[in-house]
Amino acid sequence: MTAHTPPTAIEWVGELDGYIAILDQTLLPTQVATLQCREASEVADAINRLAVRGAPAIGIAAAMGVVLGVRNASDTDRGEFLARLDQTCRLLRATRPTAVNLSWALDRMATVAQADETLSVAEIKTTLLAEARRIADEDAAMCRAIGEAGQSLIKDGAGVLTHCNAGALATGGCGTALAPMYVAHELGRRFRVYADETRPLLQGARLTAWELTQADIDVTVLCDNMAASLMASGRVDLVITGADRIAANGDVANKIGTYGVALLAHAHGIPFYVAAPSTTFDLSMPTGAEIPIEERGADEIRRGFGRQTVPDNVACYCPAFDVTPAKRIRGIITDRGLIEPVRRETINAVLG
Ligand code: MRU
Repeated sequence: MTAHTPPTAIEWVGELDGYIAILDQTLLPTQVATLQCREASEVADAINRLAVRGAPAIGIAAAMGVVLGVRNASDTDRGEFLARLDQTCRLLRATRPTAVNLSWALDRMATVAQADETLSVAEIKTTLLAEARRIADEDAAMCRAIGEAGQSLIKDGAGVLTHCNAGALATGGCGTALAPMYVAHELGRRFRVYADETRPLLQGARLTAWELTQADIDVTVLCDNMAASLMASGRVDLVITGADRIAANGDVANKIGTYGVALLAHAHGIPFYVAAPSTTFDLSMPTGAEIPIEERGADEIRRGFGRQTVPDNVACYCPAFDVTPAKRIRGIITDRGLIEPVRRETINAVLG
């Protein structure tokens, strides 16, 4: 089986005067087009519009966005440089609140920028670009490790359900939830992926289906409200989803609808797994109840994809994420190994 190279969601092109190339996910699956960002404000806009999305990928975008935000600051005025750094981090931090990878990446960049007072501003700018690239490379390595840690869960002939897109498009590598699928496929195992379409923005239908098809992995899309019937038919052996933030007790925030899928899996006796890099854990949050949940605009429901489907005078409920309690999760597949069962103690043991 030849290894397939998954699509690159985001990369920095060139040196300090280069740009960020983002595969514009708003246009998939019908158009494959690259967005070139040369200003931090363009990166913030791309994150807000979900042109780049998925917890690890928005962390990488934010890190690279910091470089764009500070690179034109004066090399001789450290005060101006630090003010621009602060301004850029604020702009990017305000984009999407749920995925912890975003604030984690910004904090890491801000720390690096101020770590060595003997460096000139020009040297710090180069250091920041290297750090942003390192964040992307480390994420790719974590994706691969998640794939290797989780591949044995996917047996020959299995049916695997996933929700949203936690694949290459959402990360700097081969994904989180999809990583075990890529590795199992490389190992020659045959299995079928069921991709929930994932209302309202259809990340499952548009993105997961697109990227798995590129890799020749057998994928079938279903509307979200068909998952119960699919599970009842006996065709789902396990569920794997991604995560946007994992609290210290193992509660998981992920794309809206994940909680419902976990409850359905429980009702049908189907193991429900989450796959995430160690950068998605936020041990400062005791439980999922403290995780900030992004609310999106009503038009994503009212006028999604081309036509109005809800009357103008009707309100829409539009949280982008929900929280699945730890007790409904069989295990968390991480770059440091499998956490099973999911408890505060087992998380601490693996994350150290
Ligand atoms: O709103 P999105 O598309 O950014 O939501 C993405 C998800 O919920 C993913 O499952 C999660 O970020 C994990 S990506 C590896």
